[in-house]
Parts: sequence; structure tokens; C-alpha cells
Amino acid sequence: MSSAEQNKSTHIQAVAAEPLLTVKDLAVSFETDFGRLRAVDSFSFELSAGETLGIVGESGCGKSVSCMALLDLLPKPAGQIDAGKVVLQGTDIRTISREELYKVRGGEVGFIFQDPMTALNPVKTIGKQLAEMYELHKPGYSSERVTSECLELLARVGVPSPAARLHVYPHQLSGGLRQRVMIAMALTCKPKVLIADEPTTALDATIQAQILLLLQDLQKETNMGIVMVTHDLAVVAQQCDSVLVMYAGRVVEEGPVEEIFANPKHPYTQMLMASMPTLDTPTKSELPTIPGRVPSLYAMPSGCRFNNRCPYAQMNCVSLSPEFEKVNADHRVRCLHHAELKPRNIEEVKI
Ligand SMILES: Nc1ncnc2c1ncn2[C@@H]1O[C@H](COP(=O)(O)OP(=O)(O)O)[C@@H](O)[C@H]1O
Ligand SMILES: [Mg+2]
Repeated sequence: MSSAEQNKSTHIQAVAAEPLLTVKDLAVSFETDFGRLRAVDSFSFELSAGETLGIVGESGCGKSVSCMALLDLLPKPAGQIDAGKVVLQGTDIRTISREELYKVRGGEVGFIFQDPMTALNPVKTIGKQLAEMYELHKPGYSSERVTSECLELLARVGVPSPAARLHVYPHQLSGGLRQRVMIAMALTCKPKVLIADEPTTALDATIQAQILLLLQDLQKETNMGIVMVTHDLAVVAQQCDSVLVMYAGRVVEEGPVEEIFANPKHPYTQMLMASMPTLDTPTKSELPTIPGRVPSLYAMPSGCRFNNRCPYAQMNCVSLSPEFEKVNADHRVRCLHHAELKPRNIEEVKI
């Protein structure tokens, strides 16, 4: 067994049965020039301690909006949660006070944003911002302990000369270093849940691998649950236990990673996988991409939202909106015709 396989098997054993975080039927809308439009619908998942859940889908499918809604971080007043529950260890955090929510953010739930500049304060030094996380969430720590923990964490996320970096401002760091500082900030309080929205997209491949390993190590130490947004299915295969595939604001398929990779049911999932690079793919430019685009909020197709890009679409795909259906105990898919689609090798999917 390779060390990666070993990692994964011990990791799966650590997954607990009770959900740490349960999200139920979350719906998000934005005020636009065309009125209030729904961006995300029926967004639900369960995350156990020690589990990593991947969220995949093309750009514009609603991954970031869904994650921001979990902690009520949507841009206000345009963004709004219309419905749903976000239950963290038995408490619906949509019903708690602002003050309590501030404690949850960065305390029990760490958040890594897609864009570090939205998370870092441009007028405060890195050291000051990290120290503030401890002041808020670990008020009993001495300043010596805070400094030594900050230095250790910065070193672990691969920030060189961490002591010198405590005194600099975010704009004085490269994009990659800012991203690593933000990851350190999200991890200061050893969160029970980490929401990571494309945490490594801006980083080069070596640093990306280093950060992903770090997250795995920390998860083993603290048994945190991770929600990992990515557009990279290779990251999902390597890092995640289960996966949600999102398309146009809805989850269209979900299940354990092995099951979804071996038996993808939704044509969208099949096409995403067909566009994934393999070791045999000679150059990036030869990768197939999915023709067409994710619909905008203004022009959602009726029926199945994938109908205008789907090679198997039939008449009723335009009139009927597919419900989530069980493929087996924990594999579900939102496609009217999934049972008729022949099982196929990914190589056969024509795109
Ligand atoms: N502030 C906003 N106002 C209006 N629409 C928005 C806003 N933010 C996101 N959206 C829309 O919500 C949808 C989902 O966006 P997003 O969650 O950022 O996608 P992803 O993270 O999957 O790339 C898109 O159609 C996007 O245009
Ligand atoms: Mg995004």
C-alpha cells in the first residue's frame, strides 16, 4: 500500500458517524437589475468530523455563494439567504445572535476565501491580524504564547522567515504568501470545520501539494471536517471522502468519491470527468472542454438546468425539473434519465 493509500485508509477510519455540520435546503438570492434572482437552491449536505467533502463545478455554478451563505458572509444587502438551516453540532447557527456568530466564524468554523484580499485587512500587519484572532477566540493566551503559536503556524503553511513577516502589511506580500497567511489565520483556533474555497488555486503546484498535505496532517491531529471547493477533480480524488457536483445553483450529484468516480450518473459529472487531465494527456491545450456555458441567473433554462448542454436531453428535460433520486444508499443524482443512460467508460463520453 502506498503512503497516500495508507493516509486515506486511516483517514476514513477517523470519520465519525454523527454529522458535525448539517446544511438543509439552503437557498440564496441576489438583488439585481432584473429583481431578486435565486442563485442557489436546495443546497444540502452532511459533514462528519474527520471527513473531507469536495464541492466541484464550473465557474459560476454557485460554489462560493453557497459557502459564504453558511456563515452569513454574503455581500449585503444584495445577497440574502431565503431559506434553510445550517446546524453546527446541534445548533442552527442561522438562529444565533450576531455576537455568537462572530465567535463561530474563525473559532469553530475556519474559512479560507478564494481571494485573500477580501479576508485580510490592508491596514494592519500580519502579526496584528493573527494576534486579533487569538484575542477574540483564545482570550486566556499570553502574548508570548500567541507569538510562538503564530510563528509555528506561519512556518507550517510554508511562509519563509515568519518572524520578519509578522511586521509586514498584506500588500507587501506576494499573492501566494498572502494566500498562505490567510490559511494560517483560518487555522489559528483549530476549527472543528474548515471551509476552504479554492484554497490553492492561486498557488503553484509545489506549494499547492504542500498546503493540501498540511490540511491532511491537521485534520488527522484535530479531526476537523473540511468542505473543500475546487474545480480540480484530481484534488477531489486525492483529498476528499465525498463530493457534491454543482451545476447552475443546484447540487446535481453527490456521493462517496470512489463511487462517483467509478459510476458517475449525471451527464454533467461524466463530462467534467472526461475533461479531466490524465497522465497520458499530452498538453493542456488538447483537453476537451464542455461546450456551452453555465447559464447566468438571468437566463436559467426551465426544467433541467443542464438541458441545453446535455447530449442526452429529451423533450421532458425542458418541461420537468428533476428531483434528487437515490442511486444507492449514499449516491444521489438529479437527472430524469439517469437510469436509462448506459453505464459507460469515461473515455466513451463524447464531448
Ligand atoms: N454579488 C452578486 N450579485 C449578483 N449575482 C452574484 C453575486 N455574486 C455571485 N453572483 C452570481 O451567483 C452565481 C454563483 O456564483 P459563485 O458562487 O461565485 O460561483 P462559483 O464560486 O461556483 O464560481 C453566478 O451566477 C454569479 O453571477
Ligand atoms: Mg467561486
